[in-house]
Amino acid sequence: MNLADLNKIALAMVTSGKGILAADESSGTIKKRFDAIGVESTEENRRDYREMLFRSTEAMSKYISGVILYDETIWQNAKDGTPLVKLIEQAGSIPGIKVDEGTQALPGCPGELVTVGLDKLAERLKKYYERGARFAKWRAVIDIGQGIPTTTAIHVNAHALARYAALCQAAQIVPIVEPEVLMDGGHDIDRCYEVTQHVLRDVFNELYVQRVALEGMVLKPNMVVSGKKSPKQASVQEVAEKTVRLLKSTVPAAVPGIAFLSGGQSDEEATAHLDAMNRIGGLPWKLTFSYGRALQAAPQKAWSGKAENVAAGQRAFAHRARMNGLASKGEWETGLEKKVA
Ligand code: 13P
Repeated sequence: MNLADLNKIALAMVTSGKGILAADESSGTIKKRFDAIGVESTEENRRDYREMLFRSTEAMSKYISGVILYDETIWQNAKDGTPLVKLIEQAGSIPGIKVDEGTQALPGCPGELVTVGLDKLAERLKKYYERGARFAKWRAVIDIGQGIPTTTAIHVNAHALARYAALCQAAQIVPIVEPEVLMDGGHDIDRCYEVTQHVLRDVFNELYVQRVALEGMVLKPNMVVSGKKSPKQASVQEVAEKTVRLLKSTVPAAVPGIAFLSGGQSDEEATAHLDAMNRIGGLPWKLTFSYGRALQAAPQKAWSGKAENVAAGQRAFAHRARMNGLASKGEWETGLEKKVA
């Protein structure tokens, strides 16, 4: 492992004013997104859609530091035969790859899941590196509900995240470590704080035990928010203050950056929360975005599967990317939302 090079990539992923596009929806998830806009989820349509995003020069070159790809996409070529990975590189962005293989029921823990995909991961990482991937992603899912999460579910997921991260670094790939505490449910923001705290403490302990170099990774956590069905919705300022307080007490300063998931927040909420956190300032790590839905909902709608809408889709993508780029510097304002470029 060359830690200086891993650190350089990690820093580039969280470079000021930029963030990560999570375009790594599994075939099942992208089908759901396409169903919502009336587009059939064929291999060609998935390629055309993602090619539209990666050819959005304005968004990609100015605001997107890296793109997380799904296995199918990393091997695909654009319509003109150029590998999609090359389009990302040509825009000055870094290709990354989702390497977990989804979740399975966790025995003994009803209703809870463990993320799988460690078997043969070393061999897969080698192939992805040769194709151009310089970072990877593994998502653990923790649900809040009656009697859950259990310490068992938190621990097995933290252990797997650290196993994955260590394998990535050995393959010269920067791991995005993503323990996602879901925002579904009726819990309040303080319950989210408590569970996320437990999860992050366990994750960083496992990363330490398994000798992961913190300088060569990026953390992708949820923000501390109220459950979607909670009658008491926290304000933007409360979310920002509680998230920053929690991260300061759990994430060592050696970590170069933290790139949040959007997790079901609206486009503008996800931007406003990130902006408010960066306005607090004085943070030991960069705070940016690694959004899937909050970056793609608008371009998906504008595109709707029609070739004549490609420019409109790219404009919608560039707008959200710019808004989040500004938020990563604490320079976003709600008034900017109306001025779609
Ligand atoms: P969302 O921003 O839609 O939550 O997706 C980010 C992601 O990569 C989840 O794993």
